[in-house]
Amino acid sequence: MKKELIEIIKEAGKILKKGFYSNKDITFKAKKDLVTEFDVAVETYLKKKFSKKFKKFNIIAEESDNANIEFNNSIIIDPIDGTTNFVNGVPHTAISVGVYKNKKPYLAVVYNPILDELYTAKIGKGAFLNGKRLKVSPEDNFQKSLLATGFPYTSGTDENDLNDVVKKIKDVLPLCQDLRRLGSAALDLCYVAKGVYEGYYEMNLKAWDVSAGILILTEAGGKISNISGEEYTLFEDKYLVATNGKIHNELVKNLNL
Ligand code: IPD
Ligand code: CA
Ligand code: CA
Ligand code: CA
Repeated sequence: MKKELIEIIKEAGKILKKGFYSNKDITFKAKKDLVTEFDVAVETYLKKKFSKKFKKFNIIAEESDNANIEFNNSIIIDPIDGTTNFVNGVPHTAISVGVYKNKKPYLAVVYNPILDELYTAKIGKGAFLNGKRLKVSPEDNFQKSLLATGFPYTSGTDENDLNDVVKKIKDVLPLCQDLRRLGSAALDLCYVAKGVYEGYYEMNLKAWDVSAGILILTEAGGKISNISGEEYTLFEDKYLVATNGKIHNELVKNLNL
């Protein structure tokens, strides 16, 4: 299944890449939440191909109505993760696809066709970038750790969420090396898998933002949890915390100051 999945996603990457260099129709789903005709075109293409090839799986996808679709055995699609980057010409944007069997991650692909970076993972078989095995950073000193985060779309409308974002930056920033906000949750997880960042956290992520990145990171030796340091549950937890494993407890502690 992995090979066929990658072939289809690489084809869909051509739609994303063409869109990246074209004018776009932008629609606002909410104050900060954009969508373009290319998000829809990539999603439509993937859904059509996956539903033909992988009949046993339900498909859950960001720009579709997912009501009453069972998650147990499913393919969870983010057609363009980092739409704000995509719209503004920041080449940090990707297609993210996670395949779940009995609610457990099975296969993952994150593909950035602009930089030609293909991240893949299969449960128990490791994680790879363009065929090269990925491994998390060995750094265990929090002060020397480069972290990443993201700002939820709700920070434009929900004062509690905005205050929480600011508080956590105030608490964590003085204690670490630095903090990045590159604008794609799927790629943020891949960057922890790659050893670029030691850790990453964000609130209000959706299943399609992280369905693939979770497996890529854990297969590279990293750790995922919720903000209490317990198992992260897709569709349920407000916060996701992802690290190289070495600084996990300290990041959890510093996010709860
Ligand atoms: C967003 C990106 C962003 C994150 C947001 C996500 P989208 O996904 O992953 O980095 O901060 O929380 O919603 O809307 O570009 O697919
Ligand atoms: Ca979106
Ligand atoms: Ca997303
Ligand atoms: Ca998206």
